[in-house]
Amino acid sequence: MAITTCIFDAYGTLFDVAAAAREAATEPGRETFAQHWTKVANDWRLKQLQYTWLRAVAGAHTDFWEVTQNGLDWALEASGLQNDLELRERLLALYWELSAYAEVPTMLADLKAKGMNTAILSNGSPDMLQGAVESAGLQEVLDDVLSVESVGIFKPADVVYELVTKRFNCTRDEVLFVSSNGWDAACATGYGFKTAWVNRAGEPVDRMPWTPAITLSDLTTIPQHAT
Ligand code: LAC
Repeated sequence: MAITTCIFDAYGTLFDVAAAAREAATEPGRETFAQHWTKVANDWRLKQLQYTWLRAVAGAHTDFWEVTQNGLDWALEASGLQNDLELRERLLALYWELSAYAEVPTMLADLKAKGMNTAILSNGSPDMLQGAVESAGLQEVLDDVLSVESVGIFKPADVVYELVTKRFNCTRDEVLFVSSNGWDAACATGYGFKTAWVNRAGEPVDRMPWTPAITLSDLTTIPQHAT
């Protein structure tokens, strides 16, 4: 089937999750954090994701804002920064206004010009996603923002990917699903979507039963793959 619907993961795919720690590290008075920010950013992201998977398997769902705070608390303690409560608040505030990658607005506008449905499908809670979309000015180029909160379990549960076919009344093979998370792209392939893995960091492919259909280094060529 021809692609009619382009769906994007949010964090790490449209929005740069390292931007919060990177920006905080440049602020006056944060010389200690400036030495640690890359480790904090990596630990924060890894723990945040681990907690989503663990909570899904354990049947103990909470929203993404909670696991984002839990992941940050683990990461700050791992770098000996757990007592810097002002830093914690600053990093959490910045997470609500993460910058989008530079090519995102034009890429989404090109998809809309081609008549594609466009949406986010994310673990993020609706209010977090609204904050990020508004801060990046993407409201006009997205038809919808779908959150796992409407099904109460994190990716990669099938019921999450099913939100897309229900919302757009389309078949799985009409969907191009785009994610920077190798595991997300792999599992969406297993679900039956055509998938693009945006591998900015040149990471090895995830060893899963499925592999992404396409691997890209950024989002620039997505409109060419939406056919
Ligand atoms: C999301 C996470 C997985 O936006 O990045 O769903």
